Amino acid sequence: MSTAISPTAYNYKVVRQFAIMTVVWGILGMGLGVFIASQLVWPELNFGLPWTSFGRLRPLHTNLVIFAFGGCALFATSYYVVQRTCQTRLISDSLAAFTFWGWQAVIVGAIVTLPLGYTTTKEYAELEWPLAILLAIVWVTYGLVFFGTITKRKTKHIYVGNWFYGAFIVVTAMLHIVNHMSLPVSLFKSYSAYSGATDAMIQWWYGHNAVGFFLTTGFLGMMYYFVPKQAERPIYSYRLSIVHFWALITLYIWAGPHHLHYTALPDWAQSLGMAMSIILLAPSWGGMINGMMTLSGAWHKLRTDPILRFLVVSLAFYGMSTFEGPMMAIKTVNSLSHYTDWTIGHVHAGALGWVAMISIGAIYHMIPKLFGRAQMHSIGLINTHFWLATIGTVLYIASMWVNGITQGLMWRAINDDGTLTYSFVEALQASHPGFIVRALGGAFFATGMLFMAYNVWRTVRASHPAEAKAAEQIVVVGAH
Ligand code: HEM
Ligand code: HEM
Repeated sequence: MSTAISPTAYNYKVVRQFAIMTVVWGILGMGLGVFIASQLVWPELNFGLPWTSFGRLRPLHTNLVIFAFGGCALFATSYYVVQRTCQTRLISDSLAAFTFWGWQAVIVGAIVTLPLGYTTTKEYAELEWPLAILLAIVWVTYGLVFFGTITKRKTKHIYVGNWFYGAFIVVTAMLHIVNHMSLPVSLFKSYSAYSGATDAMIQWWYGHNAVGFFLTTGFLGMMYYFVPKQAERPIYSYRLSIVHFWALITLYIWAGPHHLHYTALPDWAQSLGMAMSIILLAPSWGGMINGMMTLSGAWHKLRTDPILRFLVVSLAFYGMSTFEGPMMAIKTVNSLSHYTDWTIGHVHAGALGWVAMISIGAIYHMIPKLFGRAQMHSIGLINTHFWLATIGTVLYIASMWVNGITQGLMWRAINDDGTLTYSFVEALQASHPGFIVRALGGAFFATGMLFMAYNVWRTVRASHPAEAKAAEQIVVVGAH
């Protein structure tokens, strides 16, 4: 077998742009997370102003971490992976550039409109119709670039990571467009096309699959490329990855009603959502085991490679949150956990432990390659970041478990005469220590991101344009 360097090069420019913005938005989104966590400890931090109130900054936090940080990580890695595994350049540089600038414009739009109070009020779909339309156009363009690149691939088969990225792109477009169907009444106000329980069902079909396809399937695409690459081992079972893919996308789409237990939604729909959520444990763990077992024979690398640690620990948190989720979907468990901090803990086990950790690992893997360096500026700093992120996540989720169960039990406690044992304020007072620990955990995590920014900056600054250009060359393995 020989190798040859093709005269055309990968489009790494757009990958670099999205990779850098992942770090920037990560710092802002998580910094804001620490701020709103602090508001729950010290309410004075609301400053008595509407724009800085918890109610307006909370959706900005979720939009920044999910769509800005998570979204940029998904764009960066999917453009990188699809080019390398298809051994071809992106189908169009200008369309790819449009997705970058269009996506940043949507995020800036969110930063302006959400604190001003413009919102559809649908969680994770807050952006009003002009921004929602821009987002839809950018997303469809993303699909054209991604699938167009796959059609001109030089390889025979489509690597499994691309299947996951592909499903994430298609389903996100479908969810966003259907859930955003609305009637605009002014430039910044629209009303949903659906009403009552139907509106709630469509919203949580969207909401849950935003978790399932945006926060899970896309990141599994990342996992299938970066874990084997960093471990320098082939994926444990290619067959399992195919079963994993089909089982996951078939089941996820049904589980939305677990967000609407004990509501006006028909009872059968709630039970169906519960059953599908429990079955979902199987493909979730299948994928987690496939990733973990890829390390067979390479476990010793964990001692010296903090990037691999990020990737493996992210899989451990993925396994944990996808065990917890099905348990919380059981109606009797949900009657305790719903509305409490337990949900918030579950969210961040997935968001910090899984989504953020795997993205951080993937970005550390890519940055030296994108900028023509042998490795990151400081491996020691990556290690420090790893421990800050791990300890931060554990502090966050452990405090929210304690708070959640305390709140659930206090709210449902009743005296012999049928009156409530505790007032709401008493449960809030009991939650205060947990809020402090959560803010501390968040501060650990966000500080780690600052270390990352410094490390990335030093790596990029030392890069040499000629070396960076050489890194873009497509090396065709097996060419004659
Ligand atoms: C098998 C996998 C999973 C199942 C069955 C599941 C199930 C659940 C359940 C039952 C709730 C609580 C609903 C409520 O009481 O309102 C929930 C909330 C949530 N989960 Fe999961 N979960 C899973 C995995 C994940 C992962 C991996 C993530 C993140 C990456 C995640 C993110 C969320 C979010 C963001 C919410 C809060 C939604 C909201 O109310 O705003 N879940 N999940
Ligand atoms: C430094 C890290 C972070 C901190 C301190 C933090 C803090 C917070 C706080 C205080 C809330 C509001 C909780 C409440 O209403 O009681 C929240 C909500 C949320 N955060 Fe974060 N966060 C962080 C990182 C992230 C990341 C990286 C993601 C996603 C990738 C994320 C996704 C979410 C989501 C989806 C919710 C809404 C949960 C729900 O409605 O059930 N967060 N966060």
